[in-house]
Amino acid sequence: MTTVHVNASTAYDVMIGRGLLHEAGEMIRPLIKGRNLALVTDSNVAPLYGETVKRALSAAGFEVCVFTFPAGEESKCMSTYAALQEFLAENRLSRKDAIVALGGGVTGDLAGFTAATYLRGIDFVQIPTTLLAAVDSSVGGKTGIDLTAGKNLCGAFHQPRLVICDTDTLTTLRREDFVGGMAEVIKYGVIRDGELFTLLEGSALELFDVLTGDDSAMGLLQHVIATCVGIKRDVVEADEFEGGLRAILNFGHTAAHAIENLSEYKIPHGIAVGAGMMIAANYANLIGALPIRDGDRIREILNQYELPGGTSGAALWYGLDPEIFTPEAMAEVAMSDKKAGGGTINLVIPTAIGDCRIEKTPTDRLAEFMGRND
Ligand code: GLY
Repeated sequence: MTTVHVNASTAYDVMIGRGLLHEAGEMIRPLIKGRNLALVTDSNVAPLYGETVKRALSAAGFEVCVFTFPAGEESKCMSTYAALQEFLAENRLSRKDAIVALGGGVTGDLAGFTAATYLRGIDFVQIPTTLLAAVDSSVGGKTGIDLTAGKNLCGAFHQPRLVICDTDTLTTLRREDFVGGMAEVIKYGVIRDGELFTLLEGSALELFDVLTGDDSAMGLLQHVIATCVGIKRDVVEADEFEGGLRAILNFGHTAAHAIENLSEYKIPHGIAVGAGMMIAANYANLIGALPIRDGDRIREILNQYELPGGTSGAALWYGLDPEIFTPEAMAEVAMSDKKAGGGTINLVIPTAIGDCRIEKTPTDRLAEFMGRND
């Protein structure tokens, strides 16, 4: 097992290793004063791991109530949030009790935001079961739900008390979900860690073996996840509330959110981030911020991990018309992104493999940015 300690406004550990679901109760017990836990999970994860985690929590002396919602981004909304709040009240969770989020990014964001606001804030624990949640959304305390106008527009910073990443859960991912998670992994290499990027360039075949539970691939994956979490920890510790530096974690996300929105969320987040990173890299090449050969390396690594390098690839994969994703339509969506304000938007521009800068860009240049989309 590898432990990454995060020293944010709440200090906590991220535990990464095999078989940890079975130890969840013992790990959580010393951190939570109350007796009651609400286990929040979705309809995909509940049948796979719900019972295992419930049993582990009960064995540590907790009373556990389970809230299961339909899997999918559509559930990350006001009505599920309201239903979960009512569920906590009906089950009389007190301020000493806690929520345990078992699942991917949607579950963690929804459960975390509920924990941030129920009784003005209770503790929560993240148990990510997707690669994307393991390396990104379960760490750092961003929680929230989507509004009709855009993703994550309603939310709060609320750090978990513990993150338990059982890498065995990643062996049951659909290949497409593993690929989506790899987009976030590659992101860390591009923005902050050239050595990680180089390791990934030489490891695609081995990493896909995670999906068969191969021992050596699992060891490599644990190292890769710990490296990504370590990078995220460093960034979050330096700028927890995104006054500046933390925005680098949004590399590829401005275009990705537009792609997700225009696809009516048929294109999943990770796949959209893959395309979004290439759009940002192409723009960086165009303005001379990124050497062409580094743009080529980004294109090649996306290809190695089966990620689309633009909107056409992403659209065709999901049976959508590529024409939906015009630069103008994407720019329009990005304008209502919460990161756009006062006529400018912060774009993350890669400047080398392992380095990037944040560029305040007038929103009227967004269509040009989005225009490099294939
Ligand atoms: N996912 C970006 C962040 O946590 O800041």
